[in-house]
Amino acid sequence: MTEVQGSVRPLAGAVAGAVSQAMAAALPAEVAGADPLVRRSDHADFQSNVALSLAKRLKQPPREVAGAVTEQLHDEVIAATELSGPGFVNITVTDVSIWSQLAVRTRADRLGVGTPLAGERVVIDYSSPNIAKQMHVGHLRTTIIGDALARVLSFLGAQVIRQNHLGDWGTQFGMLIQYIDEHPDAKWHHDELAGDADAPIVALDRLYRQAREKFDSDARFADRARARVVALQAGDAATLQVWSDLVAESQLSFQALYDRLGVLLTPEDSAGESTYNEYLDEVTDELVRAGIAVESNGALCVFFDEFKGPDGQPVPLIVRKSDGGYGYAATDLATIRYRIRKLGATKILYVVDARQAQHFQMVFATARRAGWLTDDVQATHVPFGTVLGPDGKPFKTRSGSTIPLSELLNSAVQRAREIVAEKAPDLDPHTLDQVAEAAGIGSVKYADLSGARIKDYVFDVNRMVNFTGNTGVYLQYAHARIRSILRNVPATEATAAVDVSLVVAPAERALVLELDEFGKAVTDVADSLEPHRLAGYLYTLAHSFTSFYEACPVLKADDARVRGNRIALCTLTGDTLAKGLELLGIAAPERI
Ligand code: ARG
Repeated sequence: MTEVQGSVRPLAGAVAGAVSQAMAAALPAEVAGADPLVRRSDHADFQSNVALSLAKRLKQPPREVAGAVTEQLHDEVIAATELSGPGFVNITVTDVSIWSQLAVRTRADRLGVGTPLAGERVVIDYSSPNIAKQMHVGHLRTTIIGDALARVLSFLGAQVIRQNHLGDWGTQFGMLIQYIDEHPDAKWHHDELAGDADAPIVALDRLYRQAREKFDSDARFADRARARVVALQAGDAATLQVWSDLVAESQLSFQALYDRLGVLLTPEDSAGESTYNEYLDEVTDELVRAGIAVESNGALCVFFDEFKGPDGQPVPLIVRKSDGGYGYAATDLATIRYRIRKLGATKILYVVDARQAQHFQMVFATARRAGWLTDDVQATHVPFGTVLGPDGKPFKTRSGSTIPLSELLNSAVQRAREIVAEKAPDLDPHTLDQVAEAAGIGSVKYADLSGARIKDYVFDVNRMVNFTGNTGVYLQYAHARIRSILRNVPATEATAAVDVSLVVAPAERALVLELDEFGKAVTDVADSLEPHRLAGYLYTLAHSFTSFYEACPVLKADDARVRGNRIALCTLTGDTLAKGLELLGIAAPERI
């Protein structure tokens, strides 16, 4: 465990330090520096498994190794040690150290979490919907996971550069612009449409489908559309004007959805595919000159030994098509070069569907060969599984089309409204709306973040929006309940100092030890890029709090000192839940 300035060292760190010292005193030099393997334990506060892992190398029975270490194990935080089972060292810390830890965390800034990622510049590519198309279920996960990672990394001190890689370029826009040009009465600007923020994109989506139909059935329209693509690429002013209108109107709808979801993305984070047009020739030339891109059947391709199709034939990355056009791959090559050279990224995360894994492997391999991606820059594809419908298949409408994201959110909010209305029948309609929105959206986000990223999951509002179980509402409710307890604390008692001389009750002990792990849960997310590490931590924390609250009266405790310590426990738990939810991008209302 590395120590970071401004961070509070968890008791686990102090115990690990003590075991390391004991190892240095008791064991031969060549193994004394090994990881002391200190973990939480069901039988004591902590256990060290180091003897079991070193016994073979030392050619000694594990219990003997454990015994030797235990004999040397002394530290002011350690109250008792015990050799158990085949060679575990069980460790109990002192009551004073438990309360001191609570006191230190209560006083610390940022809940005692440091900024180990200071100095990193992390580009996070996420959300990235396509212009003139409604955001659908396929954009849910990238948006939610990407945003949670942006929050966590930036909390840990990294400079995060959010990049919304909008699909804003391609031949389809020539077709759409031509169609719009031929239908001057079509309404798609927000100021001429009634309805919500989705109205422009809904209208554009429809025009797009009509354009596609005409393109497929009317050869002369198809010719005019192709001519329009040429005009767009040549920078024809009138064509570009319509195009930038399309982009702007689409972004209005996207932004409304981002605001509703509570994600950090703003228009300033947009750097769509078109951003990189001006570099495509240059990048291609560079790859050709270096012999990395070669001609194959009229196209310019990069080949790799490691990427082969099912037929055993090599799968190339196509830099330029045989018709001279650039596609998705060329853009991503120019993009990665830009992110390294112009944005100065030390890390680049691509939060994109698992199905694009090979595309990114090829882009990274090409960038490495070209010398853009060096050893001091890390490019990572952060893949995720599919959102499934009730039938266990990728979520679609009955007619097979994709479901707009706003509809999915509405269904969760609707479910939340039913449940909340039932639980709190006398909420006024305005508060009910607010609570239902926070609970519904929070539950969708939590359901998405609380499983292993790569796993598929079923979008089931009945399971997601549930006051019991591992759900967003459960955590929001746990947080709100703590706030409500704290509202009843007399002002004079709210900030009493923690009394470190008291005996610690078992449920208090478990809760402090859990609170002490917050920083580790957050850094685990940064290391593994798995937000569920934090989600799972918060769930366990909420449970520890419930057990504590059942076993230990807070406001009704007779002894003022006991009351004071318990109030401090409530406060720190409430703050930790609130911060954890914030890092996941989930609202934590004071009342629910
Ligand atoms: N717009 C793409 C899609 O909807 C996602 C883009 C992901 N980012 C990237 N740099 N390729 O599939």
